[in-house]
Amino acid sequence: MKMLSSLKFILTILSIVVLLSNLCQAQDVHHKKKPSFRPSFPSDFLFGAGSSAFQIEGDFHEGGGGTGVWEDRIDRNKARFVDGDKFDTMIEHYKRYKEDVQHLKYLGVNSYRMSISWSRILPDGTLKGGINKEGINFYNNLINELLANGIEPLVTILHFDYPLAIQQNIGGFLNHTIVKYYKDYCELLFKTYGDRVKHWTTTNEAQIVAIYTYMHGYDNDNAEPCQDLRICSQAYTVLHNFLICHATATHLYRQKFQETQRGEIGLVISSQSFVPYSSKAEDVAAAQRLMVFWLGWILEPLFYGDYPQIMRNLVGNRLPNFTEKEKCMIKGSADFIAINYYSSQFARYESNRFKIGGFDNFDALATSEEFNVEGKSIGQKDQYSGRYVYPKGLYDVLMFIKEKYQNPNIYITENGTPSNNPNPLEDEHRIDYIAAHINATKAAIDNGVNVRGYFVWAAFDTFEFAAGYSGHWGLYHVDFNNSLKRIPKASAKWYRNFLTSNCGH
Ligand code: FCB
Repeated sequence: MKMLSSLKFILTILSIVVLLSNLCQAQDVHHKKKPSFRPSFPSDFLFGAGSSAFQIEGDFHEGGGGTGVWEDRIDRNKARFVDGDKFDTMIEHYKRYKEDVQHLKYLGVNSYRMSISWSRILPDGTLKGGINKEGINFYNNLINELLANGIEPLVTILHFDYPLAIQQNIGGFLNHTIVKYYKDYCELLFKTYGDRVKHWTTTNEAQIVAIYTYMHGYDNDNAEPCQDLRICSQAYTVLHNFLICHATATHLYRQKFQETQRGEIGLVISSQSFVPYSSKAEDVAAAQRLMVFWLGWILEPLFYGDYPQIMRNLVGNRLPNFTEKEKCMIKGSADFIAINYYSSQFARYESNRFKIGGFDNFDALATSEEFNVEGKSIGQKDQYSGRYVYPKGLYDVLMFIKEKYQNPNIYITENGTPSNNPNPLEDEHRIDYIAAHINATKAAIDNGVNVRGYFVWAAFDTFEFAAGYSGHWGLYHVDFNNSLKRIPKASAKWYRNFLTSNCGH
């Protein structure tokens, strides 16, 4: 009897220990390799991997596709792009989409984030210029193939690339007229694919386009000559027009399609968390300001109908105004927010705009820093990516959005890391990275954030603009020396195991 009760006592202690260790696992956002296991996420949670049309399809003109702005930029500056010679074929996803869907299926994902190439569908960007039937068919086939294999598409309507003719004829996103063309393009997509696509995102990372291309002038041969004085306008105009395009598309979808098609629509923003460089009040304020300049720039109009007051104060009349009608249309124009998260930075107060460089916004009176005042980095440096790994930043961004923006539904549409490991198939560090970020996601869910999905960037090795394929971003390696063969990396096998095994790891 005595033995039995001590056995019971030991068993109780043991189960408390197991319970506690499970709880710790869910909370520990730095935990390596062992993510909170799949069944602990809601059953309708989307777990996927992503890509974008321009970065994988290749054969852009096959079947009548038009020229996009990125094709033009690369063609004119091939030497500046690593792997510029691989650009025409990319990884031939256009030809090999059926095989690629099987690779996705192997991963065990229930969703795939893809984008549609505007210039493949409407070669000169306009309905008047004609619809390219083969382009339409390609995405019909791809979407059908995904669904037949139990994979739901999450579609981005515009992922960086758009028709060159729109750029040449009207100046692209600098011109408000783009809204009309974008709306026509969206309407065509909703009509054509909306019976099967239930998750739409209108645009990808408008902030990156605005800051990189229009404030710092990267990959922009006609950049506004504003870098000397560091007083730029175009970045704000471009983002403004992105927002109006987004809101117009959402409005259209809600009015004409949503009721019958029963899908949802949102937009993808680039995200990071900013941590004060020191405990000085001015650095604490700088970190808050950078959060506003980066996330609030888009989210304040979306949730409250106008740009943040601090941006109005610091940017002045270079920040465009919304008409009253636009304010009403933009406010509430997202069924969900999608974020891309990679890493975070420190923020330091800087009153002199001439000392603000890198990729920072000249107007924010702050710079982003790799190290804080004590010389510490924000996270551990990953030897195979050279980047600082900071999953807590993902958790912080999710909490920030929950608290400031009415606890919306959120998808994490991109999260991943490059690898320069000489053996591209051995990407253990990517496993650690993904597991830690899945844990951060789970911790946020446990704290009430409505995260609805998580997508690894990328499903396959992707063409990363100036860096070409050098970052080997995929769960699948694509072997350029062997007929573009797709080979699952260690991370692909690990992700599959995580998604398909009900027993944890
Ligand atoms: C994001 C882009 C995506 C890819 C990753 C690495 O900013 O949205 O297309 O290039 O970075």
